[in-house]
Amino acid sequence: MSTRPGRFISLEGGEGVGKSTQVRRLAEALRARGLDVEETREPGGSVGAEAIRNLLMQGGAGQWTTRTEALLFAAARADHVARRIRPAMARGAWVISDRFLDSSLAYQGGADGLGQEAIRTLHAIGSEGLLPDRTLLLTMPLHEASYREWVRDAGELDRFGARGEAYHARVGEAFASLQADPANRPERYRTVSALGDVATVTERLMDAVADLL
Ligand SMILES: Nc1ncnc2c1ncn2[C@@H]1O[C@H](COP(=O)(O)OP(=O)(O)O)[C@@H](O)[C@H]1O
Ligand SMILES: [Mg+2]
Repeated sequence: MSTRPGRFISLEGGEGVGKSTQVRRLAEALRARGLDVEETREPGGSVGAEAIRNLLMQGGAGQWTTRTEALLFAAARADHVARRIRPAMARGAWVISDRFLDSSLAYQGGADGLGQEAIRTLHAIGSEGLLPDRTLLLTMPLHEASYREWVRDAGELDRFGARGEAYHARVGEAFASLQADPANRPERYRTVSALGDVATVTERLMDAVADLL
């Protein structure tokens, strides 16, 4: 049992900014400092939440209504928090999650128009309002992120990636506005440029969590 406190870090941002790449790199860099680190992702991260992820990712654009989708994300998060994140933190591990609540605030709350308050209410019920100790917002111009995504997926987009440029612009604006709302606990956010090579971005992320080490 570690005597150091567990920490919960989320990486956020739109499609193609490098979240999944950097979760791995950041976890490696923290392990090199001797920390116990768990990498996880949303939607998913626990057995139950991965089952809900399959529901969310399958089907056509109109598979779910916006409200059903928001509830499914909140349900997946509830399982992830209860079964994976809280137990890992309780044993002193660092948990690094590829997306968390802020993605729901930006996509369902912002771009889909449900509003942030509704999303926070679902989070209060599902996950007792758990917030990360640090949320790293990766940012880059939309066209650069789309290009990275396009190279990665060879033109094959999932239900969310396929929503078009105007939708992803709204997501980007919503991510940028999260820090303006005191209810989101703005002091947890750090905005980090996703431009440059992978190692450079990882260095920026390490700087942005240095005070938690
Ligand atoms: N710093 C970087 N420079 C160039 N390409 C990158 C960089 N970071 C990630 N990539 C590539 O861009 C694509 C999208 O990265 P990924 O980590 O999958 O983004 P996300 O998880 O945010 O959608 C992948 O093909 C990845 O290898
Ligand atoms: Mg990813």
